[in-house]
This record gives sequence, C-alpha cells and structure tokens, in this order.
Amino acid sequence: MRKIVIAGNWKMNKTVAESVKLAGEVVAAAKDIKQVVVAIAPTYLALAKVAEVLQGSNVKLAAQDVHWENQGAFTGKVSADMLKEIGVDYVIIGHSEQRSYFGETDETVNKKVRKVLSLAMKPIICIGETLAERKEGRLESVLTRQVNGAYAGLSADEALSTVIAYEPVWAIGTGVTASDDEAQEAHAFVRGLLAKLYGDSVAQSISIQYGGSMKPENAAGLLAQKDIDGGLIGGAALKADSFLGIVRPGEGLSK
Ligand code: 13P
Repeated sequence: MRKIVIAGNWKMNKTVAESVKLAGEVVAAAKDIKQVVVAIAPTYLALAKVAEVLQGSNVKLAAQDVHWENQGAFTGKVSADMLKEIGVDYVIIGHSEQRSYFGETDETVNKKVRKVLSLAMKPIICIGETLAERKEGRLESVLTRQVNGAYAGLSADEALSTVIAYEPVWAIGTGVTASDDEAQEAHAFVRGLLAKLYGDSVAQSISIQYGGSMKPENAAGLLAQKDIDGGLIGGAALKADSFLGIVRPGEGLSK
C-alpha cells in the first residue's frame, strides 16, 4: 500500500502574514481528510509561523529546499537541523526551478537527500524532462540519470522514506498538463527504475507524485492512474479551495 501525498509548493509567493492566513484556511478545509497526506511548503521565512498554525492539525509542513552542510559560511542557505527544529516533515529537493536557475545538479540533489534522511525528514525528490529532451526522445535517459543520481548510495530502508515528484518541466506553470496516459507512462517507467535499484516490493511502496499544472479539473483523472500517488501543486495550491479540490479526489483511492 502506498500513501497518496499531495503537497502545495507555494514557491516565492505569500508574505508571512499571507502564509499564516492561507495555512489556516488549508487546515480548516482539510479537517475531514483522512487518507491523503496533505502538506504545504511556504517560503523559509514563513515556516516557523506556519508551523504554529499546523500544530494539532492533519496538515504536514514542508520546506522548499535545504543545504547539505550542517552549518557555516554559506550565505543565504538554510540547514536541515534548522528545518527539523521547526517541525518540518518533508523537504522538496531538486525542483526544476532549482536545477535550471540555481545550479542544482544530480550530485547536490543526492547530498541534500542524504542529509534530510539523516535527520528523519522525508525528501520529495523532483525529476522531469524539458520539452526539448522529450522531443529528442531523451525522456527515459533523463529520468534514469536523475533517479540514479538522487538515490546513489541510499539503502532500501532510506529509499522507503522518500517521495518522488515527476514534474515534466514543460507542464510547470504553463497550464499544459501531461495527459493521464503520458503521466502514467512516465510514472511506470520511474517505478521500474526504483525496482531495478531496490526490488519490486520497495518500488511498490514509494509514492510518486505528479506535478505540472495539476488542478481540480484534472486531478481525478491523474490520481486514478495506477502509478500516480499524489501531486506536487504550484499555482493551484495558492488558494485553499482549489488545493482541496485536488486533495479530495485522492480520498478513498487505494494504491
Ligand atoms: P504548477 O502547478 O504551477 O504548474 O507548478 C508545479 C510545480 O512546479 C510544483 O512544484
């Protein structure tokens, strides 16, 4: 059995006050959610205040990134123990925006994943191809490189604490979603990669989220796919009602 995990990645949106307000709305709207794991990822700046709002609720706290070093002269960065102290459960790692704008590589993804796991938090490992890579027939080679890179040196036990987010870059923030079939095909391929690394039973236990213009209108179709176990939501997570419109179709599904 895999968990359905639906996380809102707020990216660089919302002031602290706005984040507190939206977090409160999500908590209220998600009260009756029993099976889907719901998480929200505000900016670093808002994490501590949002953590207070989430106390005693069924909504988990996620961070959008982390640095792999413990502490020191790394201006602008935040360490894993700082996130842990605040009560962060999930850490998004290797988002395509990090990869394309801020020099994230498969190697830095791997370092961050190991650090987060060492403090008993769960990495949400983002992978996905650009439109050019897909058109050139490189989908499988890109996903293979990203998955093998992220999981290098991880034990099966550690792998079981990870979540993958398959986010085709061409679908992020564009309004263009992968079709149910395109997404399912990529997810099945990724699960096959996990099976090669850790065997089928581990691969069957790792949740693989879809991300890229997911919204209430397309959530049910995507979540119904055999290998799609949740979502990583950008734009549609910035309003509680649209975010919950994606979470609700996940209730009652078993994977
Ligand atoms: P959108 O839902 O805005 O396309 O963003 C997806 C995403 O990048 C989530 O991490």
